[in-house]
Amino acid sequence: MDRRKFLRIAGSSTIILAAGAGGFLGTRTPTQALAPWGQAGSADYTDPRVRALSYAILAPNPHNRQPWVVDLSTPNEATLFCDLDRLLPATDPFSRQITVGLGCFLEVLRMASAQEGLHAEITPFPQGGDANALDARPIAHIRFVVDDTVARDPLFAHVLERRSNKEPYDLNRPLPSAGLEAMKSAAGPGVQTGATNNVARVAAFRDLTWEALRIEMLTPYTMQESIDLMRIGKQEINENPDGITLGGALFDTAKLLGLMSRESMADPNSTGFQEGLRIWEETARTAMGYIWVITPGNTRFDQLNAGRAWVRMNLKGMDEGIGLHPMSQLLQEYPEMAELYAQIHQELGATGSATVQMFGRCGYGPEMPRSPRWPVGSKIVGQ
Ligand SMILES: Cc1cc2nc3c(=O)[nH]c(=O)nc-3n(C[C@H](O)[C@H](O)[C@H](O)COP(=O)(O)O)c2cc1C
Repeated sequence: MDRRKFLRIAGSSTIILAAGAGGFLGTRTPTQALAPWGQAGSADYTDPRVRALSYAILAPNPHNRQPWVVDLSTPNEATLFCDLDRLLPATDPFSRQITVGLGCFLEVLRMASAQEGLHAEITPFPQGGDANALDARPIAHIRFVVDDTVARDPLFAHVLERRSNKEPYDLNRPLPSAGLEAMKSAAGPGVQTGATNNVARVAAFRDLTWEALRIEMLTPYTMQESIDLMRIGKQEINENPDGITLGGALFDTAKLLGLMSRESMADPNSTGFQEGLRIWEETARTAMGYIWVITPGNTRFDQLNAGRAWVRMNLKGMDEGIGLHPMSQLLQEYPEMAELYAQIHQELGATGSATVQMFGRCGYGPEMPRSPRWPVGSKIVGQ
């Protein structure tokens, strides 16, 4: 955004008032893009597999790409595939994070199935997988077995309220160790978890996460990947309910008045870009604690386990009132990040083949809105 134009609009309350008076500002919620949250578990879905999937699509996933596709052609079974058009080649060159997101999906699917009295027997990568690239082979095969004794998971109660809380956190509210411990112990098998609320360590991690964000934003090809996935304003969000959503009255008004463009957001000298940097720094520097997931290796199985652990910790955080925000930049495997990648592994004691799969900021933040989703039906094939 051009600075002079920005100042003019910021000072021009008449425009904002006019937009408000016209009902424009009050109607900026992308209702259609948020509808899947209200439809989760609906009795309109007569197939219990679809009811369970209608919750699984609400799982956290990188850049909200929602790369899942589920084949339901065989009764009582499901096969999960990755939509290879929804990868993040610049920031996630080996699709490690995409696979972690698919792990989050499988864990919510398992919990939602249990609510239905179905035991979801999950076989990950039944035809094997490639550590360097995902391909057309399935991510998982699921067999749904009727089992009234299957344990209901108490964390399921938080699926609809779960968010990745990307807002600044309250600097005056320290994080209790007990809350972090509760989140860690919710993680489940196959992973090692760690957390800190130690003031000196938190300060060091704030610096590190901010430096990693700066690198991502100032590296043109990684920044461009985010810009290409931005959905600015209600119409774009409803048309593509995924990616990075810039919604609400401010963005909609700026777009309406031609003050926001993808070109200016890619230009490090523009006011919009500088403002973005400032907002991200402020956000990163409000971390009151950190939590992380380490796996013994970096196989596709490890990555799925990390995703399952992450969503469980996120759900437990909701139970504790603690916001959680993945800060993945440090863990990304492109050359410009190599030094910080090595540093965070060293700091967290991940040596040899041990891999830090997730690293997130924690604290008490404001309530977050729901993030958009594609409807469950658009992710199902074979029915
Ligand atoms: C593997 C993985 C990595 C993620 N990395 C980041 C990140 O670096 N920064 C961020 O703001 N959100 C990150 N997220 C959160 C997603 O952006 C978020 O899950 C998605 O936008 C949907 O929002 P929700 O979790 O509130 O439903 C990540 C999520 C996953 C599963």
